[in-house]
Amino acid sequence: MSGKGVDDDLDLDLFTDTAVGDVRDPYPDYAEGRRDRPVEFVQFYGQGSHRVYRYADLDRILREPETFSSEVYGQSMGLVMGPTILGMDGHEHHTQRGLVAHAFRRKALEEWTVSLIEPTVNELIDRFAGKAEADLVRQFTFLFPIRIIAKMLGIPSEDYGRFAKLSIELISIAVDIQRGFEASAALREYFSQIVEERRRDPQGDLISSLATVEVDGERLPDEHIYGFLRLLLPAGAETTYRLLGNLLFGLMTNTSQLDEVRADRSLIAPAIEEALRWESPVQFVARGTTRDVEIAGQAFTAGTPLTLCLGAANRDDTVFEDPDRFDIHRANARDHLAFAEGPHRCLGEHLARAETTAAMNALLDRLPGLVLDPGHTDPHVHGLAFRSPTALPVRFRPGG
Ligand code: HEM
Repeated sequence: MSGKGVDDDLDLDLFTDTAVGDVRDPYPDYAEGRRDRPVEFVQFYGQGSHRVYRYADLDRILREPETFSSEVYGQSMGLVMGPTILGMDGHEHHTQRGLVAHAFRRKALEEWTVSLIEPTVNELIDRFAGKAEADLVRQFTFLFPIRIIAKMLGIPSEDYGRFAKLSIELISIAVDIQRGFEASAALREYFSQIVEERRRDPQGDLISSLATVEVDGERLPDEHIYGFLRLLLPAGAETTYRLLGNLLFGLMTNTSQLDEVRADRSLIAPAIEEALRWESPVQFVARGTTRDVEIAGQAFTAGTPLTLCLGAANRDDTVFEDPDRFDIHRANARDHLAFAEGPHRCLGEHLARAETTAAMNALLDRLPGLVLDPGHTDPHVHGLAFRSPTALPVRFRPGG
């Protein structure tokens, strides 16, 4: 895996493939769903499941893992990723999450912010800061979290592009399952060499941590290390790139709020929470019922697959006032379910916030006068399963 430049293999269209569904505005349907059909049977890429729309129902389901199991991921993502904490329940989930959470401890994150996140962000901005215009999706948001995860894992820089491409192909299973299986096998082979090397000679990276960590005398089985590594890039990169895109879009289409954030950087934190609520990067999570149960007054038998619509819950007007408005001063934005809730709540949420904060600060510092390019028509957020803008053409004063 070498011989190419860092981003040579990266193709935004690969990510766009996985957005499954060129949907511009699902929110009127979601509002109707919340009001009239709070649990609705829907076919999605040939698979039927019941979609759940209301905030209160999602919150309850996510916090009741005994009744609403995550093992359903075994029939989708699990096919290509192998065993991951995403698809585990109960004791197994608790123990294995404990092992990997060790590698995401806060101390490591603080070090990574200075040693890795900020330099990565600035390296990318160096490429266009002198030019007065850019497409921030192709030239920045799409590229930065992939590089950060690859560096955290300790993957050699000449392999980043290939690694990212395989990881994206892996989660394109809804579009091309064969491509997903091939990518899964190639990633296993690639990781197995690195895991062996790091076990012999540990470095300060995440693969070394995973290869050597022990809690209560338990070590992660190799297949689980590969599973976790296969999960990390899509979990950490596809999502964070979309969050930053949505945040930039929200601010640049509400320019008085952008001015406020530029002047007072403490507003980046609430702006991130509002972006997560307003356009949630991950729109659906899956669960399956383990017993007969009622949801929103409807009865369901054990074994019913459910799709929890995070994007619909985050615009629930019984929780968020005027929910379609982007408002960085919204008092309860942090109550969003964009990182889910309960035992599977996103393991990388602090990392995602740290990356997005560093990126936003650097963009505001280095691209003075940043605005959406008025010469370009119609940049907008799109997607069904994942949502973000496909382009962010911008102008700014060069030289930062
Ligand atoms: C804005 C960025 C992100 C969003 C919106 C997001 C969203 C989510 C959601 C909704 C879940 C729950 C899935 C479920 O319950 O079925 C989740 C779980 C997870 N996320 Fe994130 N994520 C983000 C960033 C990250 C990052 C940066 C990483 C790590 C590098 C990461 C790693 C994980 C892992 C490992 C899980 C599985 C946790 C478990 O099952 O216990 N995520 N994420």
